[in-house]
Amino acid sequence: MASAFRAPQQPVPITFVGGHDAALIDIDGNEYVDYALAFGPMLLGHSCARVLEAVARQLRSGIGYGASHPLEAELAEAVQRTVPCAELSVFSNSGSEAVHAAVRIARAATGRNRVIKFLGHFHGWLDPLAVGNPGRPDARPSTAGQDPRASDAVTVCRWNDLEAIRAALADDVAAVIMEPVAVNGGCLVCAPGYLEAVRELTRRSGTVLIFDEVITGFRLALGGAQARLGVVPDLAVFGKALGGGFPISAVCGSTAVMEQAASGRVAHVGTYNANPVCAAAALAAITEFEHTAGELYPRLNEVGATLADILSTEAMAHGLPLVVNQMGGAAYAFWSDTPVETYADTLAADDVAYRRFAAALLDEGVHVIPRGLLYVSAAHGTTELARTREAVRRACDATAASLARRQEQPAG
Ligand SMILES: Cc1ncc(COP(=O)(O)O)c(C=O)c1O
Repeated sequence: MASAFRAPQQPVPITFVGGHDAALIDIDGNEYVDYALAFGPMLLGHSCARVLEAVARQLRSGIGYGASHPLEAELAEAVQRTVPCAELSVFSNSGSEAVHAAVRIARAATGRNRVIKFLGHFHGWLDPLAVGNPGRPDARPSTAGQDPRASDAVTVCRWNDLEAIRAALADDVAAVIMEPVAVNGGCLVCAPGYLEAVRELTRRSGTVLIFDEVITGFRLALGGAQARLGVVPDLAVFGKALGGGFPISAVCGSTAVMEQAASGRVAHVGTYNANPVCAAAALAAITEFEHTAGELYPRLNEVGATLADILSTEAMAHGLPLVVNQMGGAAYAFWSDTPVETYADTLAADDVAYRRFAAALLDEGVHVIPRGLLYVSAAHGTTELARTREAVRRACDATAASLARRQEQPAG
């Protein structure tokens, strides 16, 4: 299994052999409406023609040069045009790597070492920041084999709590990193004014504010969460949708901070960084986002809201406790009797029951991420939503019937 996040799928991890638009096809030829979208990147749907054409064109000219090429510069310009904080950009291959680079740049820019991250926010699989991950009640490391000392200079703080961040911001703090919308932790939004206040506190204390926009980038708005919410960080990290499905990520930000990488003072390296094939894919994806933005983002909002409504109304009609948080093209479903508005609420939801429901959806031709995350794409429309409504209804029937059978069984 190539990723531990793929292993929990029930009844077994499924094997796919094809994908187009909003559909995935498994090894037995079954077709699914896909709301996992390869864990997010396929914002334009599977096998987007414009991305494939750009990649095919580039493949004829070379796969990699290990040197500068025009697409790299064009891509940096496209990021600069679309993302409010982006004056300069550097490129890596994955979100985890780009987060690592952003933290290194922030440390070099400030001459400080400590990093503040938030409980229930996710920033990739590398050791230092893989503490206090979504689903964890505390700051413990996320996996066996992790060096706990790698996180010695990381403070895990409560999110959406101004007193907590005020108390944590000391003069040794290089960076505060957060998901501006806590999608991994339950698609949670913070209280009005919180992001602005963190922006002001970090500015005053000379701390680099990093938005991890690996999920929210190009998904919540053309300019990411920072454009949608109107708060501009010093640095931002992009991945997933940026590459149109190909592995590429970016750190971008103000010249004052990014100068650390641009000047070569910070070693930002990687054999495949900004390789021309992935750069071609990313440039094609951003160009498509830009050209279609006027209809794409309202549509993602509408389709996301309709999906959330289908899930919650069908569940309610069956007496099942499904709660869905949604913003634009991202959503998170919980098995919960009560609204899920805080990180503590997410921990109280019934994860096992939702995973069972996700397996029932799969049986009915709808593919979702078993832990609750849901993504929609430009390729989801009324046909897919109608199929989804029918499938959700049947999955709710099956789940309600199996819960009733379980209640009828004598205890012990
Ligand atoms: C917010 C966020 N940051 C960073 C990462 C890590 O990205 P990657 O899996 O490409 O390393 C992820 C992955 O899901 C993510 O959701």
